[in-house]
Amino acid sequence: MVAERLDWRTIQEKEHPAYSPGEPMHALAIAYYKRYKMEIDLAGLPAPSWPEGFRCLAWHEQLLEDHTQTLAQAFEGSPDTIVFPSLGSVTGCRGLMQEIARRKAFIPEATWLVLGPDGPCGTVQALRERGVIGAIQNIGIVPRWRRRGLARNLLLQSLRGMYASGLGRAMLEVTATNETAVGLYLRMGFRRSKVVYKAVPAFTLTPEAGSAHPVLYV
Ligand SMILES: CC(C)(COP(=O)(O)OP(=O)(O)OC[C@H]1O[C@@H](n2cnc3c(N)ncnc32)[C@H](O)[C@@H]1OP(=O)(O)O)[C@@H](O)C(=O)NCCC(=O)NCCS
Repeated sequence: MVAERLDWRTIQEKEHPAYSPGEPMHALAIAYYKRYKMEIDLAGLPAPSWPEGFRCLAWHEQLLEDHTQTLAQAFEGSPDTIVFPSLGSVTGCRGLMQEIARRKAFIPEATWLVLGPDGPCGTVQALRERGVIGAIQNIGIVPRWRRRGLARNLLLQSLRGMYASGLGRAMLEVTATNETAVGLYLRMGFRRSKVVYKAVPAFTLTPEAGSAHPVLYV
């Protein structure tokens, strides 16, 4: 994951408006996470085909807590909780879900909960970007039910919901090191359209910290 080390002063000068060169003070280090933007055409996608014992529930505000709990379980321990700290706790996930669901751009037709033999086990949400493109927000399947094709089906369900709501194209962003997710999206027909870097505060560095350097993650 760690691919390159950078001089922390270079990072500070570029990225931290409060930094003054040479000033002996605490400095905020920034780590950069490489992410792919991926896109897909919505026309002609196959219908989902749920394995026996699994089905999905359309968005309803009374399901917000089920989405919240499922999101938190699915992302527990994932590197994405460093990139997006809200994903790392139930409280953070609840805040995210509330924020997504109250947005004007929210697409209820593309927001689904998967129900399995022992309750909710997958979630996906979507927003309209720039009015014309559907943007998958967070897709997650709880660890116990992975590698059964649930994420593929859930994505198809969501993408078809976007299409039914009048959109022609969808996009998502994925951390480059999340090979399972990147592979899944590529096999489904998503194509990389852009590389972006998400800056994340890494740690506080003092001049006494000696050789500690912030790191660029790719
Ligand atoms: C990424 C994630 C959503 C994938 O969920 P999933 O339900 O396991 O995904 P799928 O089953 O549809 O496909 C994933 C893998 O299972 C395989 N698979 C699908 N059906 C299978 C089956 N019946 N038997 C064995 N393997 C199967 C797929 O080929 C794929 O394998 P590969 O990646 O080794 O090629 C899940 O790992 C997750 O929630 N991760 C944490 C959150 C996260 O990273 N979300 C994505 C953020 S962008």
